Amino acid sequence: MQFERLQTNPKFDRANRMVERIANQIVRRWDDTLGAARLGGRKAPYDDSAFEFEGGSKDQLRRKHYDKSLRLLWKAEEHASWLSFRDCSSAERQLLAMASDNMTEEEKAARERLCLPEYKELLNREYTQREKEAIVSILAAIGHGEAYAWMVSTEVLGLVKSTGARAALTMQVFEEAKHFVVLRELLQAFDVPIRRQSAWEYLLLENVYKAQGLEKLFGMNVVVEGIALSLFGLMSSYPGLEVLRRFHIDESRHTALPGNYFSEFPLSTWQKHNPMARLQRLKLILPALALIPCLEEDLAVLGIDAFEFGGSALRKLAHLSERNGFYLPVSGPQLLNGLNGLFNFYCKASRPEHSFRNFMESESTVGAEELAVEREVFAGLAMP
Ligand SMILES: [Fe+2]
Ligand SMILES: [Fe+2]
Repeated sequence: MQFERLQTNPKFDRANRMVERIANQIVRRWDDTLGAARLGGRKAPYDDSAFEFEGGSKDQLRRKHYDKSLRLLWKAEEHASWLSFRDCSSAERQLLAMASDNMTEEEKAARERLCLPEYKELLNREYTQREKEAIVSILAAIGHGEAYAWMVSTEVLGLVKSTGARAALTMQVFEEAKHFVVLRELLQAFDVPIRRQSAWEYLLLENVYKAQGLEKLFGMNVVVEGIALSLFGLMSSYPGLEVLRRFHIDESRHTALPGNYFSEFPLSTWQKHNPMARLQRLKLILPALALIPCLEEDLAVLGIDAFEFGGSALRKLAHLSERNGFYLPVSGPQLLNGLNGLFNFYCKASRPEHSFRNFMESESTVGAEELAVEREVFAGLAMP
């Protein structure tokens, strides 16, 4: 490349550089002073001299979440062709068409690209009206949760340090947005009324949104996503709901995010153990417990014992909670023991045939793929 250099005035060049240097010193020192006095100062947690956000690059976090999210990126047009999404690129559409050309008739039928009327027919063939209502009612809890997950992760994005963590949270914001809009249309296709949030969901999600600082990660990535992971794991094998497998994989990545973040920026001993924080965490979980009997009727329509589901979800939740240093006023095993007693007390009163059992040992996740994903998540900090 050939450039024809223009002449400038050297005196003016020097003067401009000097004026900028002085202005820079004044602006930076002024903001540093205000910052030190906690009166404002620079708002952006950005270190322009290092070309990084405060906290450094932390490429591990970027690789584990941002890169992985893009590798596992899924499109609603491919996995739920009957919805209104047209989010595949032309190359992806071509690939889908080519794959379909090479399939046997049987494979084609299995991967049939349905349109909305055919999808509704499939739902009516597979489910009774009451079953459709039950599925929508259970998934509505998650649908409202996805709206909050979108809002909460947007706030957490502003709280985390480092370029890698911001990249990771940006992908979570993007995925929660996708979860909300896709799940919303999916439920609308069932042609049954979509219920409002129950009082328990309202309390749980509002408390998570209002939680202070990184406690939001406990409320959202441990409690809410722990429940979401369990519900997707339970329902992704149902006919017409296979797309929930994609949600399940995304949520498992989100539940691993606090652990990966804290391995770079650990919580202090005080943050982990402070009695007020422990109590707040327990307070935050309480509405989730009330949600179990609230969903009992709908889960029973689908042949699922709400307390088995609750036990399975709570076991995972207690595990995630302790692993991330979000301690509760009692240890995980003590909590599960106490809750199992409470579950049995309720069942003894409401079920004539009930005999004592350990609900915390049950496993509500069904599909082999989903169980493998969860085995990795709960084995350590490994990613699915
Ligand atoms: Fe989500
Ligand atoms: Fe999520």
